Amino acid sequence: MRQYFIAGNWKMHKTVPEAQALAQELVKSLKDGPNKYMIAPSFTALDAVSKIVKGTNILLGAQNMSTDEQGAHTGEVSVLQLKDLGVQVVILGHSERRHIYKEDDAMINKKVKLALAHGLEVILCIGELLEEREAGKAEAVCEEQTRKGLEGISAEELKKVTIAYEPVWAIGTGKVATPEDAEAIHAYVRKVIADMYGKEAAENIIIQYGGSMKAENCAGLLAKPDIDGGLIGGAALKADTFTPIALCK
Ligand code: PGA
Repeated sequence: MRQYFIAGNWKMHKTVPEAQALAQELVKSLKDGPNKYMIAPSFTALDAVSKIVKGTNILLGAQNMSTDEQGAHTGEVSVLQLKDLGVQVVILGHSERRHIYKEDDAMINKKVKLALAHGLEVILCIGELLEEREAGKAEAVCEEQTRKGLEGISAEELKKVTIAYEPVWAIGTGKVATPEDAEAIHAYVRKVIADMYGKEAAENIIIQYGGSMKAENCAGLLAKPDIDGGLIGGAALKADTFTPIALCK
């Protein structure tokens, strides 16, 4: 049985004191929660939030990292620096990284390999644009991003990978995918994983949904057999909007 994995992506929000306050509230509200949890503050708040979530049931996530371990990469943050701060999970291939910052599948794959080589868990984000969905290409886009993102990753390493299906047209727009549309892609991606790694790996991999998930729609989405959690943006910015999703059973 797969456990739900509910993750909060705080994106480019919150000062250090604001991040600390939210982390403290979540430590309390999720203390006895039934699911797996992660919060990903901005790089600037990782150190402060790390001290708050250490030893709790909330994992510390980062929202991105460099393709390289160290070196002349102005403005980038390395896996070694993340680990130094206690980061346990890294979100890679988020659509904002793909579309605003032009990260391609090869670059994302390099990051996935590096993160796993250093023992971090990875949330690999995939998802189609509205025009790709309208052209009937949603499955093909998600398959390609999955296959290319995981190129060279062993079955053993895959155990530390979560996939987040985030249709780009649903992110931050309030337009949530219907549970049926989301489930169709989740089931398809699970089939792709079965083809790449076998049935057992496909049954075990966690596939989160992301894109305007909130308290009002999470139960319908999570009731679907292949939707195993959520990667939450907007609703993760306040304890009273994130907690009801996080406590969903
Ligand atoms: P949203 O963001 O919940 O605000 O749509 C989700 C995400 O981008 O991870």
